Order: sequence, then C-alpha cells, then structure tokens
Amino acid sequence: MNQTTIAEISQYDQQEVLLKGWLYNKRSSGKIHFLQFRDGTGFIQGVVVKSEVPEELFEACKKLTQESSIEMIGLVQRDDRAPSGYEILVKAVKPVSIANEGYPISLKEHGTDFLMEHRHLWMRTPKQNAILRIRDEINLAIRNFFHDRGFTLVEPPIITPSSCEGTTELFELDYFGEKAYLSQTGQMYAEAAAMAFGKVYSFGPTFRAEKSKTRKHLNEFWMIEPEMAYVDFEGNLEVQQEMIQYIIEKVLQNKKTELKILQRDTTALENVKAPFPRITYTDAVKMLQEANFEFQWGDDFGAPHETYIAEQYDKPVFITHFPTKMKAFYMQPDPSNPEVVLGADLIAPEGYGEIIGGSERIHDLDFLLERIKEENLPQDIYEWYIDLRRYGTVPHSGFGLGLERTVAWICGIDHIRQTIPFARTLNRVYP
Ligand code: 4AD
Ligand code: MG
Repeated sequence: MNQTTIAEISQYDQQEVLLKGWLYNKRSSGKIHFLQFRDGTGFIQGVVVKSEVPEELFEACKKLTQESSIEMIGLVQRDDRAPSGYEILVKAVKPVSIANEGYPISLKEHGTDFLMEHRHLWMRTPKQNAILRIRDEINLAIRNFFHDRGFTLVEPPIITPSSCEGTTELFELDYFGEKAYLSQTGQMYAEAAAMAFGKVYSFGPTFRAEKSKTRKHLNEFWMIEPEMAYVDFEGNLEVQQEMIQYIIEKVLQNKKTELKILQRDTTALENVKAPFPRITYTDAVKMLQEANFEFQWGDDFGAPHETYIAEQYDKPVFITHFPTKMKAFYMQPDPSNPEVVLGADLIAPEGYGEIIGGSERIHDLDFLLERIKEENLPQDIYEWYIDLRRYGTVPHSGFGLGLERTVAWICGIDHIRQTIPFARTLNRVYP
C-alpha cells in the first residue's frame, strides 16, 4: 500500500493508496457518503458507496464529524470535474480523533471578524490555505532570486535602539531599564552588512505602531530588504523589476491550483515583464491635477491617487524623484536637483498600492551629518551608522518589498490580513 498526498495523487491513477488527513466536510444520503477530505497539500473527495463497501464502514462514516482526523484507503480515479482532477473510491477509513461536535466554522458564510477570531481554524479552508501556499512560494522565490545572484542573507536585530523611518510609528519597550523599539526596518543594518559582503538582503518581521485601519496596513509585517554596494539609483530599479518578474513567473508556474481556487484572473499577472514604466513624482502630480484631483506638489499620495496613477499602466509603475522633504533622512538627493531624491516607490496594478520603497543612500560623511542635523535627529545613536561613511564609504542603494502587499496583489484578494498566518492589526492580537 502506497502512502501518498493529494498533491502527488496523479502518480497513482487506478491504484490503492493511503492518505492521512482530516474530514473537511461530509454530504450523505442513505446510499452514499461524499467525504471532503484534506491533507494539507490539497482537497479531494472520497466516495463511499453503500452497496460496494462492508456495512461497518458505511456505518462508521456516519459517525465522522467535521474536522475529524482520519486515515483513508481507497482507489484513485480520474475525475475531470474535481479541483485535484481525481477522486477516491473509499475502501477503508480509520478515525484518528473524532472531532467535537459544533466545529465553529461551518460552510455557510461567516463575517470576517468571526473568521479572524478563529484564524487558527480558518487557515484550514481552501481559500486561506491557497493564499498561504502562494505566500510560501513567493518567500522561496525571493530567497532563491537573491541567493542565485550572489546576495548574502544577513538578519538584522528586531530589538533596536533607534528609528530609521521616523519615530511616530515605533513600538517602544523597556530594555532592562533603557528604551528600545521593535524594528520598523532592517535597512541600516543591511547597509552595514553591504559594506562587509557587497550584496546582501534581510528578510524578517518589521513593526509599525501606526493606527491605520486600511486594507493595506498591518502592525507586524514581513519585509525583504536588499542592499547593494556600488549600485546606483538606476541599478536599484533594475534589480527590483527583475525580482518582481521572477516572483510572478514562479507563482504562475508552481501555484496553478491555488490561483484557480482563488479564481485569480492571471492575464494581468502574465503581463508583468520588465522593464516597468516610470514617472517622476512631479509628473505624477501633473497627471493628478489634469484629472481634477486636489493635489499640490509636496503632498503625499493617498490610496485614490496611487490607484489612479496605477490605472494608467498595465504593469507596476515606478514613481521616482519624490520631494526630499517627504522622505527619510538617508535618501540621496538628486545632484542635479536636490529638491528631490534618487528614490522610487513601486506601485502595483489593480489598486494594491505601494509594494516597494527604495533609494540610493547618502554616502558622503559631511552630507549625512548635515541631513541628520536638518532633521533634528540625535547624532549619538546613529554613530555606528555614520561610521559606515567614515570607513570606506561607497555609493550604495537598496529597497524594501512588503511581503504581504505583494501576496495580496498576486492572489488578487481584497485585504492584507488574509496574507499572513496570524495578522496583527489595530484591533487584533488574538489568536
Ligand atoms: O516604504 P517603507 O516604509 O520603506 C522602508 O522601510 C525602507 N527602509 C525600506 C528600504 O529601503 N530598505 O516600507 C517598505 C515597504 C512598503 O513599500 C510596503 O510594501 C511595506 O513595506 N509596508 C507595509 N506593509 C504592510 N503594512 C504596513 N504598515 C506597511 N508599511 C510598509
Ligand atoms: Mg514607503
């Protein structure tokens, strides 16, 4: 008897197999049970026909409650209507644990709040399962992309003494009597590592204490942050578009079943090939004004602005050269116009908004000190970061990709809270 998984089931057409998993749902008539079975790799239907199985088996199946864990032996048969392409003609069922009656998530519609409250169970359902599988694929694609191109993974600390992107959004904690913060970005540490390894990336959780309730904001999210010595603004954008194209290719290749479960229209994704279009911040402002948006040079884009700009293109679009005043102290101003920086945000199509923020960094010592003063930042806590400009400084660039926003876009789902196993939002730290 071959033990296998639903993902591998096509190798066993017309053979008997053993599957281990859970009963997702059951429909029964007097003559037949349809066991909706899942094993973590997929979903498949097991059919128990009364006239073809021993009486005890048919009776035992009556006692199976939703989400009971079971082992099942049966004959694999092609079925073109099934999502997996197969069904199982059940020969034997062994309950491992009969689940309590009253499983909270029935197959009727539940409100999202209720489902988030039961996230530990909700993640068993096909759609949520598919999203997290695609997240896994994206994770792997990102790691492979950078590993294959000679980047070294260097993990920054999560507990940090200072801010990088501005102090308003920090979670503060008491570090043995001293103030410390949960990291909002690993960037400064990635910059240190880039001077040691050349090309690096960090990939880890980051924290923002912002009280946003939008469908794009989490208070804990995962960011991938490459940092590259001797790479300028232009080179930075090239890596970004190549990475996004690569991620999408991998998902389209390896996660067809999951995209189908999510009913994702993949034509828009297939079109995501480098190079991506670019527009300067200044031209984007003009574009918005021509479309009668109330918007002045120096304003920050809100969701409607980002969506309007993105709608003008059929691929992700880079918005470049933001006003220096709007952006963090470390961004390199454009030497030909210091009012704007050599930085860019990448805006995803279909209203998913900013997925990447990045820039060339200031590498000149005196200039960095000047910017720190201008922004009234305390120089002493940045001494180690300033050291990077004292000892062998070089032009360098990097960016941060928000993993969850990327997953939301690729999956085509409407809220970021479904893209992470256990979301942390303004109203939720449970479960
Ligand atoms: O634009 P951000 O704030 O950039 C940085 O933190 C830089 N230090 C990155 C770097 O250059 N190394 O954040 C980068 C990305 C955003 O484009 C967005 O995709 C995601 O992180 N992001 C969020 N995702 C979910 N919830 C939030 N509250 C997010 N804030 C940012
Ligand atoms: Mg940003």
